[in-house]
Amino acid sequence: MKIFLDTADLGEIRRAADAGLIDGVTTNPSLMAKVSGDRDPADLFLDICAAVDGPVSAEVVAVEKDAMVSEGRRLAKLADNIVVKLPLTEEGLRACRALTSEGIRTNVTLCFSPTQAAFAAKAGATYISPFVGRLDDIAGEGMQLIAQIRQIYDNYGFDTQILTASIRHPQHVVEAMLIGSDCGTLPPKVLYQLLKHPLTDKGLDAFLADWKTLGKDL
Ligand code: E4P
Repeated sequence: MKIFLDTADLGEIRRAADAGLIDGVTTNPSLMAKVSGDRDPADLFLDICAAVDGPVSAEVVAVEKDAMVSEGRRLAKLADNIVVKLPLTEEGLRACRALTSEGIRTNVTLCFSPTQAAFAAKAGATYISPFVGRLDDIAGEGMQLIAQIRQIYDNYGFDTQILTASIRHPQHVVEAMLIGSDCGTLPPKVLYQLLKHPLTDKGLDAFLADWKTLGKDL
């Protein structure tokens, strides 16, 4: 499963990309608003695109098809690795169809049902972003949605990639991998939770302490 970092924080993106931990980045207007301050959003997208060797989702803020398409075209021109993120609305799907026909990659976001995901695939979306955490937050079954979309896409041969989003903890990641989600996007905190293990730290401390008793260098 491809691992994307769900943030617009350049420091976090550079750290994770330099360590080879991520395959791309996703942003949304809320994540951009958190970090961009006085910066021109286009400049921030450019820096993010340069920091990671992989797709960077940049979301439109228009809500009407023609305006979404114009914003999407402008975003796609910024860098080769931009993926235009569009909301899963009727207008968003119209924009998805139009941008796809121009060869622009799209990520259809705010997906909460399997039928929404089927429509996004029919509209030619490159990625579909089902939000598992937000469904769990309202006592829904986030991971069940991923399994349903996986089966529907496999049944009908859709090549839209499932990008499990709104991941809150490592178990979401494990379950997404077991179901066969193509990608998952996670906040920095969850990324490092995936990597760290207390037995690794404990084991390393013991190895180094034992080695020290030799009093030798390698
Ligand atoms: C996905 O692309 C979204 O940016 C993100 O995963 C939403 O996560 P949240 O529900 O934690 O805000």
